[in-house]
Amino acid sequence: MTVDDETLLARAKAVRLAAHAPYSKYLVGVAVLDGNGDIHVGCNVENVSYPEGICAESNAIGSMVAAGGKKIVSIVVVGGVRDLEACTPCGGCRQRILEFSDEHTRVLFLDGGGRMRASSIREMLPAPFSPP
Ligand code: THU
Repeated sequence: MTVDDETLLARAKAVRLAAHAPYSKYLVGVAVLDGNGDIHVGCNVENVSYPEGICAESNAIGSMVAAGGKKIVSIVVVGGVRDLEACTPCGGCRQRILEFSDEHTRVLFLDGGGRMRASSIREMLPAPFSPP
């Protein structure tokens, strides 16, 4: 079975509603399709010690790795306080996505008009940290 973008979007929207974001009020949901065809989801989990909060992408990718997933085929990110807003992965999460990406990996997000956009991680992170 191939997982389509709409299915991933629906999973990201659904898990977003489970976010623990009492400080920023900004709810983020992520769904990852891995190379095995499995879907992993994550939401942001904030903490009263603010820097200890965890991004939704981190939780979704951690879930993928724990399940044996090695490669992100597609990742959908959605966010917003109440309604969905244009939301793309933060800089740190772009580096995390890159770790499990190849040239075919698609990063999907909604633009301001609610339309789904696709980008490559290289486009989103043109100069990643890459030690010699
Ligand atoms: N957040 C994410 O979950 N992913 C991102 O890529 C950007 C920001 C979360 C962190 C914090 O809980 C809230 O969104 C507001 O910054």
